[in-house]
Amino acid sequence: MLIYDDKLTAPFIAAHERDQMEAQLRVARDMLDQRTGPGSDYTGWIDLPETMDPEQIRVIQASADRIRRDFDLLIVIGIGGSYLGARAVIEALSHHFSAFLPADQRPGLPVLFAGHQLSADYLRDLIEVTRDKRVAINVISKSGRTTEPAIAFRVLRQQILGHLGDDQLADRIFITTDREQGALRQVADDLGLTSFEIADDIGGRYSVLTPVGLLPIAVAGLDIQSLLEGAREERARCLTSPAEGLPPCDRYAVNRILLNRKGYLAEMLAAYEPSMRYMTEWWKQLFGESEGKDGRGLIPLGLDYTTDLHSMGQLIQEGPRLFFETVVRFDKPNRDLILPSDPDQADELEYLAGTSVSLVNSRAAEATALAHTEGGVPNMEILLTERSARCLGRLIYFFERACALSALMNGVNPFDQPGVEAYKRNMFALLGKPGYEALRQQLES
Ligand code: PA5
Repeated sequence: MLIYDDKLTAPFIAAHERDQMEAQLRVARDMLDQRTGPGSDYTGWIDLPETMDPEQIRVIQASADRIRRDFDLLIVIGIGGSYLGARAVIEALSHHFSAFLPADQRPGLPVLFAGHQLSADYLRDLIEVTRDKRVAINVISKSGRTTEPAIAFRVLRQQILGHLGDDQLADRIFITTDREQGALRQVADDLGLTSFEIADDIGGRYSVLTPVGLLPIAVAGLDIQSLLEGAREERARCLTSPAEGLPPCDRYAVNRILLNRKGYLAEMLAAYEPSMRYMTEWWKQLFGESEGKDGRGLIPLGLDYTTDLHSMGQLIQEGPRLFFETVVRFDKPNRDLILPSDPDQADELEYLAGTSVSLVNSRAAEATALAHTEGGVPNMEILLTERSARCLGRLIYFFERACALSALMNGVNPFDQPGVEAYKRNMFALLGKPGYEALRQQLES
């Protein structure tokens, strides 16, 4: 289901180097699993796939079914961990051109996103295309006070749902937020809206398998039970004792740390499927926000292959030797395609007649991995056996666990993000938010 292959790291990492990491890995595993490490209040995601209440899944699915029955589309308002996971899974598993499919051929509703930036044009365009549609809105914010989603909610509520009374609003707006605190909890209570809770012990970027991700994913018609099932399977594998051979996610975490200590500054996640672009974005946030602190952390970069081999390929092959590469691939596509024979064409492709496009993609991946290894770019691969919710569930858990272990081995708290506040403080001051007058003066002097 998920196969991690690091044999091409052999020229860069010797077996004894991994062995020497054993003690550090053990400490990190203990800190994580005994809940004794930094940020241990935010480790609820570790057991979540196993412990999630089936009743909660049933309620999420029932709300999703109602949204699919009564509306034309769902707008998800959220930023960072409050939208990336849902978008990643939906895009990874959906038809690439689902907007062009007749409604009765789509498994679920179109899910559009807002509140993940501050573009006026984006909001205007969204209002325009949803004017004659029956729209449901899912506002997601753990803190309930993040500026970008709050602005989008205020605008879209007025512009798209402004003509509705409170009763109708209660049918259309779904809130996902903290159990007790924050402005959104207040809105949900005041208007009697359907709301979902984000557990106290799960932070934004580890929340895709909570209602944060599961509701939009289910509205898109995807199988949330299988997603959780995959995560459960990967969790079981991750929790096996390292004495029985390092679980793949531990090995990935150790390889990353070793390469970082050898001077590689960035990790490039390269996927050979365009549908994985947002999965890469989710991964970038997960690792960037978890590891990048105290002057430490690998820089997470995302690439689409083979597309980016024609834009970044030269740099990767022969530029500064500062990065290593983790490739994510599906073993087989959902629907393959055979290259037809056409001997009269001058395209020099006749030798491939009868070959599947997916085989060409696989050979491109093999060829690239060998070329990059040869060029001094350490390479590892995560192979998912199929493009399915179950495999994606495995991948999500694999990355979450590997990320937490890497960060702990690097001596940082994987679950906080103190640096994110710096731009917010300046923005509030420049916008004239009460309480920020002194900082404004300082910034303007
Ligand atoms: O991982 C995180 O905690 C962050 O990326 C948050 O998800 C993001 O900042 C949005 O926060 P909130 O859900 O409170 O609006």
